[in-house]
Formats: sequence, C-alpha cells, structure tokens
Amino acid sequence: MIATICRRAHFNAAHRLHNPSWSDEKNREVFGKCNSPYFHGHNFELEVRVRGEVDPNTGFVIDLGELGGIIKEQVEERFDHKNLNVDCPEFENLLPSTEHLAKVIYDILKPVIGDRKLHITLFETAKNGAEYGDW
Ligand code: NI
Repeated sequence: MIATICRRAHFNAAHRLHNPSWSDEKNREVFGKCNSPYFHGHNFELEVRVRGEVDPNTGFVIDLGELGGIIKEQVEERFDHKNLNVDCPEFENLLPSTEHLAKVIYDILKPVIGDRKLHITLFETAKNGAEYGDW
C-alpha cells in the first residue's frame, strides 16, 4: 500500500528579489514591491509531503515525529528569522523566490527520506505559494 503523509512547519524570513544583471529600473519594473531595497519579510508556511510504502508493522510511511525533527533541525533552524539574501549561502547566486526556496528545501530534505518521494508546498502569503517535488 502506497500513501502520502504531510507535515506542516512555519518560519519567518526576509528577502529581496533583485537580479544584479538588470538595471535598477528594470528590477523595479519586474519585481515591484519585492525589489524594495531594504528587504521585506514573509511568514512562510511549509508543507512537506512524503509518499511511499506503508510499513505494515507501524502503519506509517515515515514516522511524523522523526520527520518533524528533521524539518525543524534542517529547515526551520536554517531559515527562521534569517535574511535569505544576506544570511543564507544557498541564495548567494540564486534569487530567493518562493519557487527557488521550495527547491532548496527539497534538496535539503531529499537525502534524508530514503527512496520515498518528496513534495514541497511553500506559501509566502495566504494567496501565493509554490510547489516543487517528485510528483
Ligand atoms: Ni517577498
């Protein structure tokens, strides 16, 4: 039996969308308020989905407490109350858009979930989010 489990997490982080190969004018035109020079913050809502075979001995795809601990250690503690552009080497040469942050989180978690499938959903506001994953 194959099933998907979901664990939610939350962190706050700041960012600025700015493409250094463009003029300031073009950056303002494309990114609008997200190009604001002194950064802005988001309350990121993360959903991590893991899909795989249910272990008949536990009824679990993966132990949610264990998964929650991994997310806390490797994602929340890395990004919470950070400035993604300034504090996080992952974004040294990568625009810290929600799409890219979802992919960065996928790359962090993928090696620790074994051969199960992984899907990341990340909302930066109640209306705007991105997804990245194996399905
Ligand atoms: Ni933003």
